[in-house]
Amino acid sequence: MIDLETFKWDRAVLLAPMEEVTDLSYRKICRELGAELVYTEFVNSDGLIRGCRQGRRKMAICDAERPIGIQIYGNDTKTMVEAACLAEELAPDLIDINAGCWVKKVSRRGAGAGLLKDPCFMEEMIRRVVKAVKVPVTVKTRIGWDEHSINIIDIAKRLEGVGVRALTIHCRTRAQGHSGMADWSWIDKVKDHVKFPVIVNGGILTAADALRAFRSTRADGVMIARGALGTPWVFREIKEMLKLGSIRTPISLKERIDLCLEHLRNLVLLKGERRALLSFRKYYSGYFRNIANISSLRMALMQQITYQAVADLLRSYEVTGNVSYFKEVTTDKEHYSKKEHCSKNDEKAIKKATISTSCTSLQEDPRVSKNSILQ
Ligand SMILES: Cc1cc2nc3c(=O)[nH]c(=O)nc-3n(C[C@H](O)[C@H](O)[C@H](O)COP(=O)(O)O)c2cc1C
Repeated sequence: MIDLETFKWDRAVLLAPMEEVTDLSYRKICRELGAELVYTEFVNSDGLIRGCRQGRRKMAICDAERPIGIQIYGNDTKTMVEAACLAEELAPDLIDINAGCWVKKVSRRGAGAGLLKDPCFMEEMIRRVVKAVKVPVTVKTRIGWDEHSINIIDIAKRLEGVGVRALTIHCRTRAQGHSGMADWSWIDKVKDHVKFPVIVNGGILTAADALRAFRSTRADGVMIARGALGTPWVFREIKEMLKLGSIRTPISLKERIDLCLEHLRNLVLLKGERRALLSFRKYYSGYFRNIANISSLRMALMQQITYQAVADLLRSYEVTGNVSYFKEVTTDKEHYSKKEHCSKNDEKAIKKATISTSCTSLQEDPRVSKNSILQ
């Protein structure tokens, strides 16, 4: 349960911010399946105040997915304050500051997890952001830069002191990246010193993990990242596990296919068909994990370049359990060379062809309305 008025959270279940994953097309589905709070991908504060279109696109939110947080990151106080004010104009339920990103081009410049190296600067920057906006500010960070400099207790106290309303702790160091064990024991050590909600993140991949996290820590919430990559039903499973002690509604093949196609349709509407089909490839192994013939199904799916082809392939698989379409797959090149105005190296023509293809295949599907993603 999440109460954004009082910030009293009780066993809350959150979808983590993930770049190139938690866009509008996916957040909506996760909310429907039980995620109680979702976040945008992280948005670079410098780009945002320069008017960069990509940042604006990442910040697009809609009412159906509330409560939602916009996550920003940066290493300059003035820029972060301005970016937070811009984000606030879009009326998110909260603004989250990323102080945990480990990738070199971010953290070595003092942004993301780089902030952990200078707690005074981090405290002052976040104090100014909190003062500049009316919307609640939360922070997502790690336990420290490396195993020799774990400073999360000091950081948590400072953040609470400047008015941050909740803290998510990815229980790994920056040096660990995304590998190695997440050490959840830091949650209780932090909770001994602060009153605001503390959310545990790192290594929670299944409903059983979530239950274990709540049983072994005093966390106010769990945040799921890779455990939700193409498996949005993990939120329903966690809710059932917490309430009933077991998973009562295991995901069926039909439901996996329905969810996969809903997600893909949403993404096509957001990005256009060609880009959507390419970026969707990372989800297939999640959606179809642990089912028969997964490798041939995945291989066939990876080669499809239209929504309709994916839908046909999956509906056929649903009935037969086989990948009968596999041999009929056309390659990218073959498909686009068939388009009227499309020469081999003409990117513009490919784009044009893509737009017309996407409109046709989506309009043929009676369940899809072009505005449905924004409702
Ligand atoms: C593909 C991907 C993109 C990510 N992007 C972000 C991001 O934009 N902002 C952020 O705070 N963390 C980001 N993370 C980190 C996750 O939110 C999370 O902290 C991390 O994956 C650990 O959780 P897990 O063990 O449940 O995966 C990303 C992680 C992945 C795998």
